[in-house]
Amino acid sequence: MIDSRISGVINFVREDSRVADIGADHGYLSIELIKSGRALNVIATEKNIGPFEALTKNIYGLDKVEARLGDGLKVLSAGEVDTICIAGMGGALITKILSDAPEVVQSVRQIIIQPMNAAEKIRAWLVENNWTIADEDLAESAGIIYEIICAEKNPPAKIFKRESSPLLKKFLTQRREKLQRVLAEMGKSDSARTSEKFLTTRAEVDALNKKLRGRCYVL
Ligand SMILES: C[S@@+](CC[C@H](N)C(=O)[O-])C[C@H]1O[C@@H](n2cnc3c(N)ncnc32)[C@H](O)[C@@H]1O
Repeated sequence: MIDSRISGVINFVREDSRVADIGADHGYLSIELIKSGRALNVIATEKNIGPFEALTKNIYGLDKVEARLGDGLKVLSAGEVDTICIAGMGGALITKILSDAPEVVQSVRQIIIQPMNAAEKIRAWLVENNWTIADEDLAESAGIIYEIICAEKNPPAKIFKRESSPLLKKFLTQRREKLQRVLAEMGKSDSARTSEKFLTTRAEVDALNKKLRGRCYVL
């Protein structure tokens, strides 16, 4: 069975797209993109030799997946793909990968991201770089809830999938617990207690309390 984190990413890929899977590792996403028929072809990139070897082994015989060894999007040329997928990395690394290859990023129509942390940094980066967040979803795998963000250029207006996700209440509750732990730690230090991060974190906890109390989970 396909992992729901992987299928959550694939669901956002437009039919018949040429896709780049950045940091492909074992290549499960690349392989499913082809097996599901969603992608026309995939360029799977890997920076590290160990995962690259696993990738080339796993895609053996799949002629629609090409593996490239190198850093992020730097091994692609502008216009080679329609969609960039970056899954399973931290937000800071993802925004660096996108910032390091502006011509490639400008040439695609979709960017689909499943960050391991700092999703808010990615949203901010996308908006600053004139992308629209077209949709978002949540996926649960092995007890962890993952965020999936789909950015497009000029998408039609719509309601985000995550707003009706059965995982949303659980996700917001976990997020509130995490932020409450951060606040409790910061509260032990005078300088942390008066920092901007403390105030923005407390504001987010207040907003989460309101949403969870009102049983209205829309972000
Ligand atoms: C945790 S794995 C995620 C694998 C897969 N994308 C997934 O979601 O299941 C992250 C992978 O990204 C690779 N990676 C890290 N930095 C990279 C970069 N700058 N360019 C390409 N790959 C990178 C790592 O070697 C690792 O295999």
